[in-house]
Amino acid sequence: MKVLVIGSGGREHALVWKIKQSPLVEKIYVAPGNAGISQIAECVNINIDQYDRMIQFAESNHIDLTVVGPEKPLADGIVNRFRAKKLKIFGPVQEAAQLEGSKVFSKRIMAEAHVPTAVFEVFNSVDQAEKFICKKNPPFVIKADGLAAGKGVVISETREDANKTVRNIIQDRMFGESGKQIVIEEFLRGDELSVLLLTDGETIIPLASSQDHKRAYDNDEGPNTGGMGAYSPCSFVTDKDLKSIVEKTARPTIETLKRKGIIYQGLLYVGIMMTANGPYVLEYNVRFGDPETEAVLPRMKSDIVPVMVEIAEGKLKTKKLEWDSRVCMTVVLASEGYPGDYPKDREVKGLSEIKDDQVSVFHAGTSFNPAGQMVTSGGRILAVSSLGIDHQEAYDRVYRSISKIKIEGAFYRKDIGKRVFEKTKAR
Ligand code: AMP
Ligand code: GLY
Repeated sequence: MKVLVIGSGGREHALVWKIKQSPLVEKIYVAPGNAGISQIAECVNINIDQYDRMIQFAESNHIDLTVVGPEKPLADGIVNRFRAKKLKIFGPVQEAAQLEGSKVFSKRIMAEAHVPTAVFEVFNSVDQAEKFICKKNPPFVIKADGLAAGKGVVISETREDANKTVRNIIQDRMFGESGKQIVIEEFLRGDELSVLLLTDGETIIPLASSQDHKRAYDNDEGPNTGGMGAYSPCSFVTDKDLKSIVEKTARPTIETLKRKGIIYQGLLYVGIMMTANGPYVLEYNVRFGDPETEAVLPRMKSDIVPVMVEIAEGKLKTKKLEWDSRVCMTVVLASEGYPGDYPKDREVKGLSEIKDDQVSVFHAGTSFNPAGQMVTSGGRILAVSSLGIDHQEAYDRVYRSISKIKIEGAFYRKDIGKRVFEKTKAR
């Protein structure tokens, strides 16, 4: 088989790494990829939103399966376009991708499906939002409706700040047209967990659980980021809990979509807050999580390719996936200044010093400069993942490896998974 993967982050590197292990696959192309991906697959110079070029490439290179990494092409309807040309593609159609593309759509589907989620209201005028804020107590969770590169959620601790945020989003369009409408919702407390599942719109197979670390600095301080590290499995849920979460959240959501004639085929990411009242859905994403994928896929023993093909063909026949019982810990190395402005073109050194065969380095923001040196090109540069018999071993190995990488100004969190496994030990 020939496979085309779309995207250029750590998630896509992990997907390519996993797809490459399949005996069914003879060639992998990646559009556009990055320096690390180019070492294991052929990168093609097509951007993630050049859909006509992508289709042309898939047709002329006889691609058997296309796998979409990021949300934007899905929200733009790349799957509908590929299908119209009879090209096999893994991912949900545009109508289903609204679960991530529009928070308003997503919350309304959840309400209709009776899925536990924070109480919410939708606003498109500053006045009405301010009246609402005046009647309620902080903190307020304010979300731009559309895609905002993971930045569209603001938590305001005071009414003044909430009013300012509302004006910034609706009036000043700080997130562009994504902020035409907003959702204001109740603030939930608890531990977060990421549930990724594969579905053809009927059968659901959950992947192993994982936990992301969204804040930039240790002890969950600093601004929200795309994710600074993750580990799998999440230490506070059992397989039974995971099944029950899926039945309470994803299943009714997928069934509600189906009643509207929308069949969800692909990967669904359910962002969960484990509250005192049980699991609540924070958000849906319509694609693999990043960095969750880098922590989950190293533990997957089954071949992922047949499952993706079955879903792309509309009938999931696989019943179960096999998992490595070990823990996987992933730490992201980020550029100085991330998630704000950051420098580029800083040399990446020390990768060859990592000699542990239980460790994988997935590239996110790397490229080669004209002199052939590997340099930084993004906010998140690398995701280093390590397997270990328990959290402690995975933690020790991943940090031993990441400390060998030398990039001027780059930083990483020192506490990925630490709070939770310390809690487990204390029990
Ligand atoms: P979202 O993109 O909707 O997942 O939001 C990004 C992050 O904001 C989540 O991972 C949570 O950490 C936080 N968040 C979102 N919604 C809520 C909420 N209702 N209560 C508390 N935190 C939230
Ligand atoms: N790690 C969070 C996300 O992929 O959206």
